[in-house]
Amino acid sequence: MSTLFDQLGGQQGIEQIVDDFYKRIMADNTLNHFFANTDLDKQRQKQVAFFAKIFDGPDQYKGRSMETTHTGMNLQQQHFDNIAKHLSDAVAVRGVSPEDANAALARVSSLKGAILNK
Ligand code: HEM
Repeated sequence: MSTLFDQLGGQQGIEQIVDDFYKRIMADNTLNHFFANTDLDKQRQKQVAFFAKIFDGPDQYKGRSMETTHTGMNLQQQHFDNIAKHLSDAVAVRGVSPEDANAALARVSSLKGAILNK
């Protein structure tokens, strides 16, 4: 059976989604300031590895836990919703089926408690 990773286009598909995702984030003034001191090339690579892992692809993520990473950012629901919208849009333009897109978003949303208010 194919995984969500496969349905999103495998490694290459996820790389394209992540590229587009960070373009959208960096064009959004409610979000881009959080990334002012972030190395975006590294961030994209980590995000590709993280998505591959949570979408049942290869597990090569070597970054920190969601809780540790976002500690001190004091992220709120609105930040999460805005990020989730950009991810949803980046997935939708790739022609992923609504079912697979919703499944991917549900996995990301399940991390909300680990990310917000830290
Ligand atoms: C929606 C779900 C989210 C996921 C799956 C996610 C995932 C990640 C991952 C994998 C990293 C890299 C961890 C590492 O460096 O070891 C990271 C870092 C980061 N995240 Fe998130 N994140 C999410 C939400 C957010 C939100 C809502 C914000 C702010 C609006 C945010 C801001 C950041 C920043 C600024 C970094 C980089 C920190 C640095 O420069 O070291 N994240 N995130």
